[in-house]
Amino acid sequence: MRPINHAEMVSVLEWYRAAGVDLALGEEPVDRFNQRPPARVAPPASPGHAGAVAAPAPTLALGGDPAEARSLAAKAQSLAELEQILGAYDGCGLKLRATQLVFADGNSEAEIMLIGEAPGAEEDRQGRPFVGRAGQLLDKMLAAIGLDRSKVYIANTVPWRPPGNRVPTPEELALCLPFLQRQVELVAPRVVMTLGGPAMQTVFATTAGIIKMRGKWSRVAIGTHQVEAIATLHPAYLLRNPAAKQQAWRDLLSLRHKIDELGLN
Ligand code: URA
Repeated sequence: MRPINHAEMVSVLEWYRAAGVDLALGEEPVDRFNQRPPARVAPPASPGHAGAVAAPAPTLALGGDPAEARSLAAKAQSLAELEQILGAYDGCGLKLRATQLVFADGNSEAEIMLIGEAPGAEEDRQGRPFVGRAGQLLDKMLAAIGLDRSKVYIANTVPWRPPGNRVPTPEELALCLPFLQRQVELVAPRVVMTLGGPAMQTVFATTAGIIKMRGKWSRVAIGTHQVEAIATLHPAYLLRNPAAKQQAWRDLLSLRHKIDELGLN
């Protein structure tokens, strides 16, 4: 195989950049999801020592352990604690490239929760979900059924912006899921609406496509919280495909109907 020339190298780099790759990590891909963290060995108790103290948890800058994420998330007794724990969590590589944590927006007492995919550039700048163009459309969609951000709580499947707005990887989703689950448990909404394919697949634990799954209510368990959930199309998709607004409108009407049926605020 001949070595690639300069023009080819530039074209490969441009292709990577267009695909959202903006960080070189190594020569070979590493499946960090399957890496076990080094065993934490307790040092032997020494005389005069109160007891064996476990070695500090290794910091896995680029690939955490979902079990560790679960145990950290479970410690949170409030949303403020969860936000603090998540802010200090270094297991998910997305954090490396993001400006800040984008935890949530809206009313944490709300009975309606919306779950999006991941923060974009504007969300990354402001630290709040859905504040860019897709967020503006989302506000209009909510207003069309008599809702606004004082009546809903909004979070994302991952709380850091993926580089170049790429879709979060299954590993990133798995690492952030325990935190999302705990967030849902603490908010305890009566209904959940997911926005877009990745959020739907995460919440409904399915690999089915959004077109097939949208618009149908089902009872799902998010962590220990059982809730009525429906999927709809992502506002960013609707911006690119205005004709699909028709379907999203049906889903919104269905949400409105469910809210009225359950007598929610
Ligand atoms: N898209 C999302 O899924 N979430 C945001 O917060 C912004 C855009």
